[in-house]
Amino acid sequence: MVDTIKASEKQKQFLTLTEDQRKKHSKLIENTYRINTASDYTEKIEELDRSFNYSSNSNYYWSEPEHSLLYGTPIYEAASPSQKIALNHLHWFTKYNYTAETETETVAFNQITSSVFEAIGGYDTICKELDLETQQERSHIHAFRKMGLMTATTLLGKKPLQNLQKSHSYKSSLGSDSWLTSQYYALRFLAKNMLKNKRQYYSQYLDKLEQKETFVVTTPTKGILGRAVPASWQGFFTFNWGGGSPFLACQYYAARMMGNMLLKGMEYPLVKYYRKLEKQGEFIPVPTAVSYYHHLDESFHTTISQVLSKEMYKDFPQPTVYEKLIANLSIYMVQRASFSGLSGVFPHRYLKDDQFLMTFVYEMLQSPLFGMSAREALHWMEQCFCSEHEGFHLAAKNHQRLLSDFRRFFNDFDFLWPVNREMRLMASGSSIDKTIQNNIKTFKQFSRLVVC
Ligand SMILES: [Fe+2]
Ligand SMILES: [Fe+2]
Repeated sequence: MVDTIKASEKQKQFLTLTEDQRKKHSKLIENTYRINTASDYTEKIEELDRSFNYSSNSNYYWSEPEHSLLYGTPIYEAASPSQKIALNHLHWFTKYNYTAETETETVAFNQITSSVFEAIGGYDTICKELDLETQQERSHIHAFRKMGLMTATTLLGKKPLQNLQKSHSYKSSLGSDSWLTSQYYALRFLAKNMLKNKRQYYSQYLDKLEQKETFVVTTPTKGILGRAVPASWQGFFTFNWGGGSPFLACQYYAARMMGNMLLKGMEYPLVKYYRKLEKQGEFIPVPTAVSYYHHLDESFHTTISQVLSKEMYKDFPQPTVYEKLIANLSIYMVQRASFSGLSGVFPHRYLKDDQFLMTFVYEMLQSPLFGMSAREALHWMEQCFCSEHEGFHLAAKNHQRLLSDFRRFFNDFDFLWPVNREMRLMASGSSIDKTIQNNIKTFKQFSRLVVC
């Protein structure tokens, strides 16, 4: 009896709080949608995308020099002024190549989760805002891919890019790899069963995808999620985020927020650079302007990620143990795959330096930009990856800043495991010494492979 009274009091309190919160976050969503609709930042990006040609922008820095590939490494110190400018442009290319991959995932998940909110009803503005964001992302992706590829092809030729552009062929591996395929069906079965009482809110968009595709894997990319999990698990998260649970549809936006924050850390310095050039009346390179307008568009998306993951989920019933588990698993996997290390050559990459990255640098050093022999390339790479230099310290500083931002954001998510709330995996990857020790091993394996 006492327990029943306690439970009903708790429920009453929960509902009272929800009413107040609902008004507050509804207003924020309405305002964000109104201002986003009235803005013309995406149109500006589309115009810049159409007008871009590399040669008109090739002699200028696109951001401060410290936002350059290999910055602070012995190769950077020895590079000529024109090579340094090229490394600055290649940093823009690599970061926005990754952003385009992540935003391709966003396009899919915005539509899948928006369809859940549509089924719940009463969330028209958030659905319209997510549709608008999806259209904006498509324009962003186009600009990043077109401008980035024009730049990188001019500077490096095609060979180094083939490796970087290679995407996993998830769909074919699902069909041909029997273990992955069975895992996909088992995880799909699990997600559908655990959420079967939420069936009335099941994403219609996801339903249509299932009817069209043999395997629902919406992210054949290497973005923030595509890098985190294999194809079978991508399907699993898709079925959970779109499976009709309002809590999980909202919590997709916690994972999206990690991408928003990563981007902001990399992009805000470009905004400051844009403003500096504008104030001094200097030429503003097209990519710098694209970054500036993209940052403005993304500020709306960041607000929405924050409102949905931190506030709007409180409109709905308390999460079950299963829903909490999935919310935690997704943050854990993104943290592990995309934020658990440091790079000695990419100042804004939060992963261990791996053979994939080493191959790109190796081919870049042998491209016309540096014109090294294979032996010279390996000699310089060893100095960059395997001994301490300023680049590691810059990466560690960026890593620390992003870690603090994440911790501030996740601090009041009471359903998160401490490893997620405190971003412990990310924190454990901040050591320069450990990074160098790991690089020594990876570089040995890499050089054995290419010398053979
Ligand atoms: Fe974007
Ligand atoms: Fe976005």
